[in-house]
Amino acid sequence: MLSQNIEGFSTSSLNQMADALQSWYSPYRWSHPWRVLWGQTRSPWCVWVSEVMLQQTVIAAVIPKYIAFMKRFPSAQDFAEANEETIRPYVSGLGYYRRFALLHKGALQVAQEGYPQSRAMWQDVAGVGPYTSAALASITLGEAVGVVDGNVERVLARIFNIQEIVATPQWKSIFFSFMSRLTKLGDPGDLNQSVMELGQTICRISSPHCSECPISNFCLANKNQTQSQCPKPKAPKEFLKLSLLATLHTDGDKVFLIKRSEDSLLLKGTIGFPIKEIQKKPLRSQHFVKHNITKYKITATFTHSLEAPQGEGIWVKRKNMESFLLSSLDQKIWRLAQKNIFAEH
Ligand code: ADE
Repeated sequence: MLSQNIEGFSTSSLNQMADALQSWYSPYRWSHPWRVLWGQTRSPWCVWVSEVMLQQTVIAAVIPKYIAFMKRFPSAQDFAEANEETIRPYVSGLGYYRRFALLHKGALQVAQEGYPQSRAMWQDVAGVGPYTSAALASITLGEAVGVVDGNVERVLARIFNIQEIVATPQWKSIFFSFMSRLTKLGDPGDLNQSVMELGQTICRISSPHCSECPISNFCLANKNQTQSQCPKPKAPKEFLKLSLLATLHTDGDKVFLIKRSEDSLLLKGTIGFPIKEIQKKPLRSQHFVKHNITKYKITATFTHSLEAPQGEGIWVKRKNMESFLLSSLDQKIWRLAQKNIFAEH
Protein backbone atom coordinates (compact mmCIF):
# COMPACT_ATOMS: atom_id res chain seq x y z
CA MET A 1 0.00 0.00 0.00
CA LEU A 2 2.62 2.45 1.15
CA SER A 3 4.86 1.68 -1.79
CA GLN A 4 1.93 2.47 -4.11
CA ASN A 5 1.73 5.97 -2.59
CA ILE A 6 5.37 6.45 -3.46
CA GLU A 7 5.20 4.98 -6.93
CA GLY A 8 1.98 6.88 -7.61
CA PHE A 9 3.33 10.25 -6.42
CA SER A 10 2.28 12.60 -9.21
CA THR A 11 4.80 14.14 -11.54
CA SER A 12 3.43 17.61 -10.89
CA SER A 13 3.93 17.18 -7.12
CA LEU A 14 7.38 15.76 -7.79
CA ASN A 15 8.18 18.82 -9.92
CA GLN A 16 7.13 21.15 -7.12
CA MET A 17 9.18 19.14 -4.66
CA ALA A 18 12.25 19.29 -6.92
CA ASP A 19 11.93 23.08 -7.29
CA ALA A 20 11.52 23.59 -3.53
CA LEU A 21 14.51 21.35 -2.78
CA GLN A 22 16.75 23.07 -5.32
CA SER A 23 15.94 26.57 -4.05
CA TRP A 24 16.51 25.48 -0.47
CA TYR A 25 19.78 23.77 -1.37
CA SER A 26 21.34 26.64 -3.32
CA PRO A 27 23.09 28.27 -0.30
CA TYR A 28 24.52 24.85 0.60
CA ARG A 29 25.92 24.23 -2.85
CA TRP A 30 29.37 25.38 -1.79
CA SER A 31 29.09 24.59 1.89
CA HIS A 32 31.63 21.80 2.16
CA PRO A 33 35.24 21.77 0.95
CA TRP A 34 34.52 18.99 -1.57
CA ARG A 35 31.68 20.97 -3.08
CA VAL A 36 33.94 24.05 -3.34
CA LEU A 37 36.76 22.04 -4.93
CA TRP A 38 34.38 20.36 -7.35
CA GLY A 39 33.07 23.81 -8.36
CA GLN A 40 36.60 25.07 -8.92
CA THR A 41 38.17 22.10 -10.66
CA ARG A 42 35.34 19.96 -12.03
CA SER A 43 37.57 17.01 -11.24
CA PRO A 44 35.63 13.92 -10.14
CA TRP A 45 38.56 13.15 -7.86
CA CYS A 46 37.36 15.86 -5.41
CA VAL A 47 33.96 14.19 -5.12
CA TRP A 48 35.26 10.64 -5.16
CA VAL A 49 37.58 11.19 -2.19
CA SER A 50 34.80 12.88 -0.21
CA GLU A 51 32.36 10.05 -0.86
CA VAL A 52 34.91 7.46 0.26
CA MET A 53 35.73 9.40 3.42
CA LEU A 54 32.06 10.04 4.23
CA GLN A 55 31.12 6.37 3.99
CA GLN A 56 31.92 5.61 7.60
CA THR A 57 32.91 8.88 9.16
CA VAL A 58 30.91 11.91 10.28
CA ILE A 59 31.26 15.13 8.29
CA ALA A 60 32.96 17.10 11.08
CA ALA A 61 35.73 14.48 11.37
CA VAL A 62 36.12 14.22 7.60
CA ILE A 63 36.61 17.94 6.84
CA PRO A 64 40.17 18.48 8.22
CA LYS A 65 41.29 15.08 6.89
CA TYR A 66 39.82 15.85 3.47
CA ILE A 67 41.55 19.22 3.23
CA ALA A 68 44.98 17.79 4.13
CA PHE A 69 44.47 14.81 1.80
CA MET A 70 43.52 16.94 -1.21
CA LYS A 71 46.46 19.29 -0.64
CA ARG A 72 48.84 16.33 -0.73
CA PHE A 73 47.04 14.33 -3.45
CA PRO A 74 45.25 16.84 -5.68
CA SER A 75 44.54 14.29 -8.41
CA ALA A 76 43.96 10.57 -8.83
CA GLN A 77 47.35 10.46 -10.57
CA ASP A 78 49.11 11.92 -7.51
CA PHE A 79 47.43 9.39 -5.26
CA ALA A 80 48.09 6.49 -7.64
CA GLU A 81 51.81 7.31 -7.63
CA ALA A 82 52.08 7.45 -3.82
CA ASN A 83 53.19 4.47 -1.79
CA GLU A 84 51.53 3.11 1.32
CA GLU A 85 53.91 4.86 3.68
CA THR A 86 53.21 8.25 2.15
CA ILE A 87 49.46 7.68 2.24
CA ARG A 88 49.24 6.35 5.78
CA PRO A 89 49.26 9.57 7.81
CA TYR A 90 46.59 11.07 5.56
CA VAL A 91 44.07 8.35 6.25
CA SER A 92 44.96 7.44 9.82
CA GLY A 93 42.11 7.64 12.30
CA LEU A 94 39.43 7.45 9.60
CA GLY A 95 38.71 3.79 10.32
CA TYR A 96 38.21 0.92 7.91
CA TYR A 97 41.42 1.66 6.13
CA ARG A 98 40.73 -0.93 3.35
CA ARG A 99 38.58 1.77 1.76
CA PHE A 100 41.79 3.63 0.97
CA ALA A 101 43.65 0.58 -0.30
CA LEU A 102 40.73 0.17 -2.75
CA LEU A 103 40.74 3.88 -3.55
CA HIS A 104 44.41 3.50 -4.43
CA LYS A 105 43.63 0.61 -6.75
CA GLY A 106 40.79 2.62 -8.29
CA ALA A 107 43.00 5.68 -8.70
CA LEU A 108 45.55 3.59 -10.59
CA GLN A 109 42.79 2.35 -12.88
CA VAL A 110 41.52 5.89 -13.56
CA ALA A 111 45.04 7.25 -14.03
CA GLN A 112 45.53 4.68 -16.80
CA GLU A 113 42.09 4.57 -18.38
CA GLY A 114 40.62 8.00 -17.67
CA TYR A 115 37.47 8.81 -15.72
CA PRO A 116 34.31 6.76 -16.23
CA GLN A 117 31.60 8.40 -18.28
CA SER A 118 28.57 6.73 -16.70
CA ARG A 119 27.39 5.14 -13.47
CA ALA A 120 27.78 1.69 -15.03
CA MET A 121 31.41 2.47 -15.88
CA TRP A 122 32.06 3.80 -12.37
CA GLN A 123 30.93 0.45 -11.00
CA ASP A 124 33.91 -1.16 -12.74
CA VAL A 125 36.31 0.96 -10.68
CA ALA A 126 37.82 -0.77 -7.63
CA GLY A 127 36.00 0.04 -4.42
CA VAL A 128 33.09 1.84 -6.13
CA GLY A 129 29.79 0.13 -5.34
CA PRO A 130 26.15 0.95 -6.10
CA TYR A 131 25.97 3.85 -3.64
CA THR A 132 29.23 5.60 -4.53
CA SER A 133 28.71 5.12 -8.27
CA ALA A 134 25.27 6.75 -8.00
CA ALA A 135 26.64 9.67 -6.00
CA LEU A 136 29.53 10.16 -8.44
CA ALA A 137 27.44 9.80 -11.59
CA SER A 138 24.75 12.20 -10.38
CA ILE A 139 27.14 14.84 -9.02
CA THR A 140 29.92 14.75 -11.63
CA LEU A 141 28.11 13.53 -14.76
CA GLY A 142 24.61 14.85 -14.16
CA GLU A 143 23.20 11.34 -14.57
CA ALA A 144 19.66 11.03 -13.24
CA VAL A 145 20.24 8.30 -10.71
CA GLY A 146 19.04 8.34 -7.13
CA VAL A 147 21.25 8.15 -4.05
CA VAL A 148 19.80 6.53 -0.95
CA ASP A 149 21.72 6.84 2.31
CA GLY A 150 20.39 6.76 5.86
CA ASN A 151 19.39 10.41 5.72
CA VAL A 152 17.45 9.97 2.49
CA GLU A 153 15.71 6.93 3.97
CA ARG A 154 14.55 8.96 6.97
CA VAL A 155 13.32 11.92 4.87
CA LEU A 156 11.32 9.65 2.56
CA ALA A 157 9.97 7.53 5.42
CA ARG A 158 8.54 10.72 6.90
CA ILE A 159 7.20 12.15 3.65
CA PHE A 160 5.23 8.92 3.17
CA ASN A 161 4.55 8.22 6.86
CA ILE A 162 6.29 4.84 6.81
CA GLN A 163 6.35 3.52 10.37
CA GLU A 164 8.49 0.53 9.47
CA ILE A 165 12.16 -0.36 9.41
CA VAL A 166 13.26 1.02 6.05
CA ALA A 167 16.88 -0.13 5.97
CA THR A 168 15.85 -3.16 3.92
CA PRO A 169 16.56 -4.08 0.29
CA GLN A 170 12.84 -3.70 -0.57
CA TRP A 171 12.54 -0.15 0.77
CA LYS A 172 15.93 0.85 -0.59
CA SER A 173 14.81 -0.22 -4.03
CA ILE A 174 11.51 1.73 -3.78
CA PHE A 175 13.36 4.80 -2.50
CA PHE A 176 15.95 4.43 -5.23
CA SER A 177 13.24 4.52 -7.91
CA PHE A 178 11.64 7.55 -6.27
CA MET A 179 14.94 9.44 -6.03
CA SER A 180 15.82 8.50 -9.60
CA ARG A 181 12.50 9.96 -10.76
CA LEU A 182 13.13 13.09 -8.71
CA THR A 183 16.62 13.58 -10.14
CA LYS A 184 15.19 13.74 -13.66
CA LEU A 185 13.46 16.99 -12.75
CA GLY A 186 16.47 19.20 -12.13
CA ASP A 187 20.17 18.95 -11.42
CA PRO A 188 20.62 15.30 -10.32
CA GLY A 189 23.63 15.95 -8.07
CA ASP A 190 21.99 18.92 -6.36
CA LEU A 191 18.73 17.07 -5.86
CA ASN A 192 20.40 14.03 -4.32
CA GLN A 193 22.56 16.17 -2.08
CA SER A 194 19.62 18.38 -1.11
CA VAL A 195 17.75 15.40 0.35
CA MET A 196 20.88 14.17 2.15
CA GLU A 197 21.46 17.68 3.48
CA LEU A 198 17.84 18.00 4.57
CA GLY A 199 18.25 14.78 6.58
CA GLN A 200 21.45 16.09 8.17
CA THR A 201 20.22 19.54 9.06
CA ILE A 202 16.42 19.66 9.37
CA CYS A 203 14.82 16.23 9.16
CA ARG A 204 16.94 14.98 12.04
CA ILE A 205 16.24 11.79 13.96
CA SER A 206 15.00 13.61 17.04
CA SER A 207 13.32 17.03 17.13
CA PRO A 208 13.19 17.70 13.39
CA HIS A 209 12.84 21.38 12.47
CA CYS A 210 9.72 20.93 10.37
CA SER A 211 8.88 24.65 10.34
CA GLU A 212 12.07 25.22 8.32
CA CYS A 213 11.55 22.34 5.92
CA PRO A 214 11.08 23.28 2.25
CA ILE A 215 8.95 20.19 1.56
CA SER A 216 6.88 19.97 4.77
CA ASN A 217 3.72 20.56 2.72
CA PHE A 218 4.26 17.13 1.15
CA CYS A 219 5.09 15.40 4.43
CA LEU A 220 2.52 12.97 5.79
CA ALA A 221 4.43 12.51 9.04
CA ASN A 222 4.32 16.26 9.59
CA LYS A 223 0.60 16.27 8.81
CA ASN A 224 -0.09 13.41 11.24
CA GLN A 225 2.57 14.43 13.77
CA THR A 226 4.14 10.97 13.52
CA GLN A 227 7.69 12.12 12.83
CA SER A 228 9.09 10.22 15.82
CA GLN A 229 7.60 6.95 14.56
CA CYS A 230 8.98 7.32 11.03
CA PRO A 231 10.91 5.25 10.27
CA LYS A 232 10.80 2.56 12.94
CA PRO A 233 14.29 2.32 14.48
CA LYS A 234 16.42 -0.66 13.58
CA ALA A 235 16.94 -3.23 16.32
CA PRO A 236 19.91 -2.04 18.35
CA LYS A 237 23.20 -3.43 17.17
CA GLU A 238 24.33 -6.49 19.09
CA PHE A 239 27.88 -6.08 20.26
CA LEU A 240 30.32 -8.87 20.97
CA LYS A 241 32.70 -8.18 23.80
CA LEU A 242 36.33 -8.79 23.05
CA SER A 243 39.29 -8.50 25.41
CA LEU A 244 42.64 -7.95 23.75
CA LEU A 245 46.21 -7.89 24.90
CA ALA A 246 48.81 -5.97 22.89
CA THR A 247 52.47 -6.71 23.41
CA LEU A 248 54.86 -3.80 23.20
CA HIS A 249 58.28 -5.24 22.55
CA THR A 250 60.86 -2.53 22.94
CA ASP A 251 64.55 -2.35 22.23
CA GLY A 252 66.04 0.99 23.31
CA ASP A 253 63.96 3.63 21.59
CA LYS A 254 62.48 1.19 19.08
CA VAL A 255 59.14 -0.59 19.22
CA PHE A 256 58.18 -3.74 17.35
CA LEU A 257 55.23 -3.65 14.94
CA ILE A 258 53.71 -6.27 12.67
CA LYS A 259 51.75 -6.10 9.43
CA ARG A 260 48.46 -7.87 10.00
CA SER A 261 47.34 -10.31 7.38
CA GLU A 262 44.50 -9.60 4.97
CA ASP A 263 42.38 -12.25 6.63
CA SER A 264 42.89 -11.30 10.26
CA LEU A 265 39.68 -10.86 12.24
CA LEU A 266 40.28 -7.18 12.91
CA LEU A 267 42.21 -4.37 11.26
CA LYS A 268 43.07 -6.36 8.16
CA GLY A 269 46.33 -5.38 6.53
CA THR A 270 47.18 -2.63 9.01
CA ILE A 271 50.50 -2.16 10.78
CA GLY A 272 50.28 -2.28 14.56
CA PHE A 273 51.19 -4.06 17.75
CA PRO A 274 51.02 -7.84 18.01
CA ILE A 275 47.61 -8.36 19.57
CA LYS A 276 45.92 -11.48 20.85
CA GLU A 277 42.56 -12.24 22.31
CA ILE A 278 42.44 -13.02 26.00
CA GLN A 279 39.63 -14.64 27.91
CA LYS A 280 39.75 -12.44 30.99
CA LYS A 281 38.75 -8.81 30.94
CA PRO A 282 41.53 -6.47 32.04
CA LEU A 283 41.34 -5.81 35.75
CA ARG A 284 40.05 -2.45 36.89
CA SER A 285 43.45 -1.70 38.32
CA GLN A 286 45.13 -2.30 34.95
CA HIS A 287 45.57 0.34 32.31
CA PHE A 288 43.25 -0.26 29.40
CA VAL A 289 41.49 1.44 26.51
CA LYS A 290 38.06 0.93 25.06
CA HIS A 291 37.28 0.93 21.38
CA ASN A 292 34.51 -0.31 19.08
CA ILE A 293 35.16 -1.81 15.66
CA THR A 294 32.09 -2.91 13.70
CA LYS A 295 30.28 -5.33 16.02
CA TYR A 296 33.11 -5.68 18.52
CA LYS A 297 33.18 -3.82 21.81
CA ILE A 298 36.85 -4.00 22.63
CA THR A 299 38.73 -3.58 25.86
CA ALA A 300 42.45 -3.66 25.26
CA THR A 301 45.37 -3.65 27.59
CA PHE A 302 49.07 -4.06 26.95
CA THR A 303 52.11 -5.76 28.29
CA HIS A 304 55.67 -4.50 27.95
CA SER A 305 58.30 -6.99 26.83
CA LEU A 306 62.05 -6.66 26.49
CA GLU A 307 62.30 -10.11 24.96
CA ALA A 308 62.85 -10.67 21.26
CA PRO A 309 59.50 -10.93 19.45
CA GLN A 310 58.54 -13.99 17.48
CA GLY A 311 57.57 -13.74 13.85
CA GLU A 312 58.18 -11.07 11.27
CA GLY A 313 57.83 -7.40 11.86
CA ILE A 314 59.54 -4.05 11.83
CA TRP A 315 61.30 -2.01 14.47
CA VAL A 316 60.10 1.57 14.48
CA LYS A 317 61.58 4.49 16.38
CA ARG A 318 59.27 5.91 19.02
CA LYS A 319 59.26 9.32 17.37
CA ASN A 320 58.04 7.79 14.09
CA MET A 321 55.25 5.68 15.53
CA GLU A 322 52.40 8.03 14.63
CA SER A 323 53.09 7.71 10.93
CA PHE A 324 52.86 3.91 11.11
CA LEU A 325 49.81 3.42 13.29
CA LEU A 326 46.77 3.69 11.10
CA SER A 327 44.00 2.38 13.29
CA SER A 328 42.49 4.27 16.18
CA LEU A 329 42.84 1.18 18.38
CA ASP A 330 46.64 1.03 17.93
CA GLN A 331 46.82 4.80 18.40
CA LYS A 332 44.92 4.56 21.71
CA ILE A 333 47.16 1.72 22.91
CA TRP A 334 50.21 3.72 21.94
CA ARG A 335 49.06 6.82 23.86
CA LEU A 336 48.38 4.67 26.90
CA ALA A 337 51.74 2.93 26.65
CA GLN A 338 53.62 6.20 26.28
CA LYS A 339 52.07 7.46 29.49
CA ASN A 340 52.90 4.28 31.34
CA ILE A 341 56.01 2.61 29.89
CA PHE A 342 57.98 5.58 28.77
CA ALA A 343 56.80 8.19 31.24
CA GLU A 344 59.90 7.77 33.40
CA HIS A 345 62.35 8.26 30.47
N1 ADE B 1 27.10 12.10 2.54
C1 ADE B 1 27.77 11.40 1.62
N2 ADE B 1 27.90 12.10 0.51
C2 ADE B 1 27.30 13.28 0.71
C3 ADE B 1 27.11 14.43 -0.05
N3 ADE B 1 27.57 14.48 -1.29
N4 ADE B 1 26.41 15.43 0.48
C4 ADE B 1 25.97 15.34 1.73
N5 ADE B 1 26.13 14.30 2.51
C5 ADE B 1 26.79 13.28 2.02
